[in-house]
Amino acid sequence: MNDPCGLVWHDGVFHLYYQHNPHENRWGPMHWGHAVSEDLFHWRDRPIALFPDDVHGMAFTGSAVVMPPGGTRKSAEEVQSAADRSPGSLCAIYTGALPQESAHSTLQQQCVATSADGERWTPRGVVIANPGIADFRDPKVGRHPGTGGWYLVLAAGDHVQFFSSPDLERWQYESSFGHGLGYTEGEWECPNLFQLPLPDDGVRWVLVVHAGRGLSNRHAGAQYITGDFDGKRFHPIEGDFRPVDHGHDFYAAQSWSGTEERRIWIAWASHWAHSDLPQTQGWAGTMTLPRELSLAMSTTGVVELHQRPVREFIDLIEHELRPVSDQSRRPDDTDEPHSSLTADSSTIASWATDGTAAYRIATRSTEPTSFRVLLRFANAGAVTIERTPSTLRVDRGACDMGSFSTRIDTDKTVPLASPYGTVEIIFDHSILEVFVDGGSTVTTDLLFPRERLSQIGYAVERGAAPGVCTVHALRRSIHR
Ligand code: FRU
Repeated sequence: MNDPCGLVWHDGVFHLYYQHNPHENRWGPMHWGHAVSEDLFHWRDRPIALFPDDVHGMAFTGSAVVMPPGGTRKSAEEVQSAADRSPGSLCAIYTGALPQESAHSTLQQQCVATSADGERWTPRGVVIANPGIADFRDPKVGRHPGTGGWYLVLAAGDHVQFFSSPDLERWQYESSFGHGLGYTEGEWECPNLFQLPLPDDGVRWVLVVHAGRGLSNRHAGAQYITGDFDGKRFHPIEGDFRPVDHGHDFYAAQSWSGTEERRIWIAWASHWAHSDLPQTQGWAGTMTLPRELSLAMSTTGVVELHQRPVREFIDLIEHELRPVSDQSRRPDDTDEPHSSLTADSSTIASWATDGTAAYRIATRSTEPTSFRVLLRFANAGAVTIERTPSTLRVDRGACDMGSFSTRIDTDKTVPLASPYGTVEIIFDHSILEVFVDGGSTVTTDLLFPRERLSQIGYAVERGAAPGVCTVHALRRSIHR
């Protein structure tokens, strides 16, 4: 699995389609796999939704919307069932990628498919032909609240292009944006464009693009810029693109359509730099936690994109773990289970894991502090999440992850705006997601430790404010 695609909420159901090769656990002929959920956590597998074909090629990434009355314009013979025409049917716009003579190039064109129920899809052909651009893909469609018309943004090499349409079928090119901005290494992919309320009053548009392939720094390239969008042109308000997520494994994020009052998205938790190295058996690729987006004003007066796990996540929080030790100990009191903690730590708590594979570790401090959370994997070392008054550091370097370790940057430090606040760490088998200060800074990183999580530790630096740390086990939501 790679990118989420066609995310749409319809009749009380979240549809999650995704880039999928059903033949093996590596990238190949792309289909749209399909899963559904009512709460974004309990997913049920559904049959494959879109298949490659000889005329349009593979079914690359795209988006989906619920059709308004009238649906897409079609000739009578194209209409295969009356249900397809009814308002409330779904329309997907995706990239057909037709292999060319060279194994590495495809003819990329934007195609439409419609469905009455989200399960059976009817491909309806090309709606935006390729204008001679090699990388021309990943259309994301939305309805512009001002004009009432449809807009579409797609990635076109080193920039994005905007199109408009009255009916999801006749598309007109409107403008381009982004040349020379943001990451310029590697082609852009998977754009998103949506509106969010400003903290005080009014709204702001957020344009997101991903740049990943060929990036020498191997960092996941989800980046955003805020501005105005009149349905045809994007006018940036704040300078240049900024990172969405500071980890290495947050890519191809897409937001759901149909839930405009809540802007929710999910991303492929991986990166092209190492996704060809599956560390798993029988499957490869996974999604991040679904996250709710908001805008906030930074201390320097800049509008920032914040992300929190969606509120439905609360239902997964199970029992609280009792610490093995939670008293303020001197380091020399520390007995064996705590030996992984640093020697200059003055307050220590530790928890022995209880066989559950997913945990939420929440810390809170009301004055500047420096502490570390350690995830210890029996004899396979530890991962450290460290907060100081000015930085967050996620260090996977001391964790034995086999060949995976050699392909990734294992240590990353990110500046923080606030000297104290909350750090919420969610570890689920092989994904580590860290949300700092209500989601103003977020990191997502894959972990493939050779052994299971055995102990969680909390160590506060000598003289720093102790803060509070709690650990909860998380309920399993997908049963296979
Ligand atoms: C992003 C991407 C898209 C493309 C899809 C193919 O991860 O490269 O640009 O549509 O994956 O699977």
